[in-house]
Amino acid sequence: MTKLPHLDLPPLRAAAGTVRLPGSKSISNRVLLLAGLSQGTTRVRDLLDSDDTRVMLDALRALGCGLQTQADGALAVTGLGGCLSQHQADLFLGNAGTAMRPLAAALALLAALQGGHFTLRGVPRMHERPIADLVDALRQLGCDIAYLGNDGYPPLQLRGQAGGALQTWREIRVRGDVSSQFLTALLLALPLACADADSGPVVIAVDGELISKPYVDITLQLLARFGIAVERQGFERFTIPAGSRYRTPGVIHVEADASSASYFIALGAIAASAQAPIVIEGLGLDSIQGDIRFVEAARAMGADVQGTPGRLTVHRGAWPLRAITLDCNAIPDAAMTLAVMALYASGTTRLTNIASWRVKETDRIAAMAAELRKLGATVTEGADFIAVTAPKVWHAASIHTYDDHRIAMCLSLAAFNPLMAAAGSEVPVRILDPQCVAKTYPDYFEALFSVAQAAASDIPVITIDGPTASGKGTLAGEVAARLGWHQLDSGLLYRATALAAQRGGVAPDDEAGLARVASGLALRFDGERVLMRDAEGVEQDVAAELRLEQVGGMASRISSWPAVRGALEALQLGFRRLPGLVADGRDMGTVIFPAAPLKVFLTASPAMRAERRHKQLISKGISANIDDLRADLEARDERDRNRLIAPLKPAQEALLLDNSGLTIEQSVDLVLGWWSQRGPF
Ligand code: DC
Repeated sequence: MTKLPHLDLPPLRAAAGTVRLPGSKSISNRVLLLAGLSQGTTRVRDLLDSDDTRVMLDALRALGCGLQTQADGALAVTGLGGCLSQHQADLFLGNAGTAMRPLAAALALLAALQGGHFTLRGVPRMHERPIADLVDALRQLGCDIAYLGNDGYPPLQLRGQAGGALQTWREIRVRGDVSSQFLTALLLALPLACADADSGPVVIAVDGELISKPYVDITLQLLARFGIAVERQGFERFTIPAGSRYRTPGVIHVEADASSASYFIALGAIAASAQAPIVIEGLGLDSIQGDIRFVEAARAMGADVQGTPGRLTVHRGAWPLRAITLDCNAIPDAAMTLAVMALYASGTTRLTNIASWRVKETDRIAAMAAELRKLGATVTEGADFIAVTAPKVWHAASIHTYDDHRIAMCLSLAAFNPLMAAAGSEVPVRILDPQCVAKTYPDYFEALFSVAQAAASDIPVITIDGPTASGKGTLAGEVAARLGWHQLDSGLLYRATALAAQRGGVAPDDEAGLARVASGLALRFDGERVLMRDAEGVEQDVAAELRLEQVGGMASRISSWPAVRGALEALQLGFRRLPGLVADGRDMGTVIFPAAPLKVFLTASPAMRAERRHKQLISKGISANIDDLRADLEARDERDRNRLIAPLKPAQEALLLDNSGLTIEQSVDLVLGWWSQRGPF
C-alpha cells in the first residue's frame, strides 16, 4: 500500500447508513493472551486485525503458540497450558500497551518459575511510556527484570532460572492511578503463580485511586470466561484463588470496539437525521466495554442513541450540541471524541480527570489542544483537564496526528464544519499520516466515507486527458494512490462496452444497440481485476482482454457515437466519490467534469508513445511491430481528434504536460505540485 502523507477531507454535510465496526482492541489482546496461556485450543471469532493485535500474535507465535485461521475466519489459538516451550525470545511490541504490559507480567512470572530469557521492546514512543509501577510489583514477587534503556521504561529484560519460586504469600501492591493496565497485567498473569493447589491464593492491593475502572471490569469478565474467578473488594483488593488454571471457553466472540464506535456515535449526533440515522453493528448497550458509557456522554450533549443487542442507532437530537462538564476518568479514550463534539456545541465543554491522556500514544491533552486550536476553537488545558469552545470562524487546518490513531479518527469529524460554519466559509480538513489509524481501525476512513455525504461540487476531481499511450493511466493511478483518491480510467469503460458488444454480437455501427450495451455494463473493480458480469450473471475477470489492441480499436470506433457517450456519462459521474477522484481519458476535462479544479492534458511524441506501447506489449509476451503500432496510434489520434462529439483536445484551462522526457515520478510530482498550489494547505 502506498504510504499517504496526508488525506484531505472535503467539507462534509451529512451522514447516514450502516457501519460494521472492527473488534475491540482491549478484548482482542486480552483474549489472545488468555488463549495463549490456556491448555487446548480457543476459537476466537471477530478478532480485531490491526497493528496492536498483530504484534500480540507475533509474540504468541514466537513463544510457540499455535495460530491457525479457520475457514469461517475465526482464529484457532492453541495455548501453552501455562508451560513455556520457548525459553528465549526477543519480542517487538510496536506501540501496543495492551501487549507490552500483560506480556511483561506473564513472561516475568514464567521466566521466574520455569527459567527463561526474554526481551520486550517497542517503537520509540513505547520506550517513553512508563512501566515502573508494574515492574516494581513484579519485583516484589521475586521476578528478575532489568531496564535496557531508561529506568522505568521499556525495553525490558526478563530472566529466571528453572525451578524458581515466587513470593506469593505476601500481598502484592500496585499503583492504580497512572494506568489501569498495570493491574490488568497482574490480574491476567498471576494465575500462573497459583496454579498449584498448595501454592496458596495471591492477593493484589491497589495503591491510590484506580483509574479507568471499566477496563479492569473487562479483564475480570474475560478471566471468568477462561475459568479464573477473581474475588474482589471494591477496586482495592483482588484475590486469585489457589488452584486457578486457565481453561479455554472453546469459542469466544470479540465484540466490536466501543472506542471506535464513539466516532460513529458522534457522527450520528452531528450529521444524521432521524429518517436516515447512523446504524452501528456489532455493539449494543449491553457491551462489557467501559467505553460504551460514551453513549451517556453523547446523549448529554444531545445525541439520540437507541440500542438493541448488537446494534446502536444514532441520529441528531439537540442542535447545536450542548456543552457539558464531565469527569471522563472512566472513558479516557472515547472522551477524545467528546472534545471534538465540543466543536459543534454552544458553550464550553470541560473534560476533567483525564491525566492519563498525557501518557498514552502521545501527550493527548497537549496534542488535542494544539490541533483543536488550529481549527479555530478556544482551548484551555491543565494537568488533568481540557476545555473546548467551538470556533467562531473555522480554519482549514492541517491536523498533525502524532502517530496516534485516535487523534486522526476523532479530528476527522471536524470536516462536518459546514453544519456550523456560515455558508461560504466551509473548510476542508487535512489529516497528516492518516494510516496511523491502522493501530486499531485500518479501514476507518473507508467506513467514514461510506456513510459521509458531501456536495458533489466539494469532492475534488483532477482530470488527465490525452492521446492513446501517453501514459495517462499510469500517471492517474499514481496520483490517485498518493492522494488516497479513487481513479476513473474512462477508456476502460469504452473498451468494456466494445468487448461486451463483440460478445453480444452487436455491430459497431448499431448506435442504439451499443448504447444499450453501455448502459447495461455491470463492472466491478477489485485491485488489478476488472470483473464484468454477463447476461447470465456470471462474473469474469476481463482486465487482460480489455487491454488488447483490437478491443482498443473498436472502443475508439464506437466512442464516436453520441448515444454511447451519453450512456456512459452517468456511470462516469458516479466515480466522483469521497475523498476525491483522478479521472483520465479524452474528455474528462472538457465534457464529463468541466468544473474540475485541476485539468491536465498529457502528451508525448508519437515515436515515444509507440515505443512505450511496444515495451508494454513485449513485457506481456505479446509480439508487436513498432512501426505498425505508431501508424495505428496516429490513426486513432486522428479519429479521436476529429470526431464531432467530444473530440480529443485540451480543455481551455488545462495545463499541458509533455512527458516525453520525464520519468513517471517526475510527472507525478509535477501534477501533485500543481494540485497543492490550488488548495489551502
Ligand atoms: O484510453 P484508451 O486507449 O483505453 O481508450 C480507448 C478508446 O476509448 C479511445 O481510443 C477513445 C475512447 N475514449 C473516449 O472516447 N473518451 C474517453 N474519455 C476515453 C476513451
